[in-house]
Amino acid sequence: MGNVFEEKEFIKTSDGSTGLYNKEVKDIYHSKTGAYSEALEKFINPIFLSGINFGDEVRILDICYGIGYNTKCAIDKLNVNLEADILETDKSLVLISPFIKDNIDNDSLKLSLISEIYKNEEDIKYGIELYKYFNEFGYDKFFSSLYSAFYSFYNNTGNTFALPCNNNSILHNIYYNYISDSMNKGVEINNNKKIKINTHIQDARITLQKINNSYDIIFLDAFSSKKDPTLWTIHFLNLIKQKMKPNSLLISYSKSTAFRSALIELGFNVGKTFLNNTDMGTVASFNKHLIINPLDDIDFKLIDSRSGITYKDPSLSLPPTQILLNRNSEIDISDRISRTKLSKIL
Ligand SMILES: C[S@@+](CC[C@H](N)C(=O)[O-])C[C@H]1O[C@@H](n2cnc3c(N)ncnc32)[C@H](O)[C@@H]1O
Repeated sequence: MGNVFEEKEFIKTSDGSTGLYNKEVKDIYHSKTGAYSEALEKFINPIFLSGINFGDEVRILDICYGIGYNTKCAIDKLNVNLEADILETDKSLVLISPFIKDNIDNDSLKLSLISEIYKNEEDIKYGIELYKYFNEFGYDKFFSSLYSAFYSFYNNTGNTFALPCNNNSILHNIYYNYISDSMNKGVEINNNKKIKINTHIQDARITLQKINNSYDIIFLDAFSSKKDPTLWTIHFLNLIKQKMKPNSLLISYSKSTAFRSALIELGFNVGKTFLNNTDMGTVASFNKHLIINPLDDIDFKLIDSRSGITYKDPSLSLPPTQILLNRNSEIDISDRISRTKLSKIL
């Protein structure tokens, strides 16, 4: 596992929450206008707007968990029993996610998340290692209190809970998760709601072929398709489709025409999400009643243009560069109208 503090830059975004920038691939993970606000506006508000009705428990699939804004906001705002499968390639992000200064003021949520995520000795050791890089910016109070707790826990034989912090019950939980697989049943947060987090550290294309669940809400928060089209291909979206219930909602910040085109081709009802009258994302469902702002004529004209040519990855294993090259070749020989020409007549 790489050192997250050396590879990424932690940025204070405009709403005070922490965003990330990847120095190696020169890409941002969160909007500079606010990592927390972005999760609320683009991923959580569309759930409320759709009027979707949940039963006793909500099942969430969080594709590209990162430092967890979408799942954390969902737990905080939906206030229901919730089970989430989180898909991410970078384990270090998942491990620091409970400690990020993220504007979510919910202690019980943070503690439950820690208990759900830190399940073995190796993870706890990593948490302790990271403490060396701790500073006042970017991380919240839990990191320091839990560091002392982790440290004592790790240095003790595992059965001493008289630790210099008041999070003993959580350490107790971590301890049982860590020594006993049979404890893997989730934890309670405020209002007696239960949460359970299943962490999958692997390419989402592989994970999703193995998981045999269906979901109420799917968050798709991959890097932009122009940089990395891997999780925007029609073949990956088809895999997501197989995990959706009749009343599920797929939510993404992306308004890419190729993405919307693939959703239409797969038979979804597709809509837009707005902020201040600006198109800012996409929702899709089998149930048309959950789509409040369906795509309009102009969107469909764009979908019929070259911009609507989908990304393809039939084996679900192609590298990003190959997916991009293949699409460019398809565009070159296409007799569809180009976007530039289309803009002139619209
Ligand atoms: C835009 S960031 C997501 C931000 C995140 N939702 C949050 O709240 O912090 C994209 C994330 O996708 C992860 N990622 C990239 N390719 C992936 C893949 N093939 N499978 C799973 N995760 C991937 C990256 O490591 C990165 O954390």
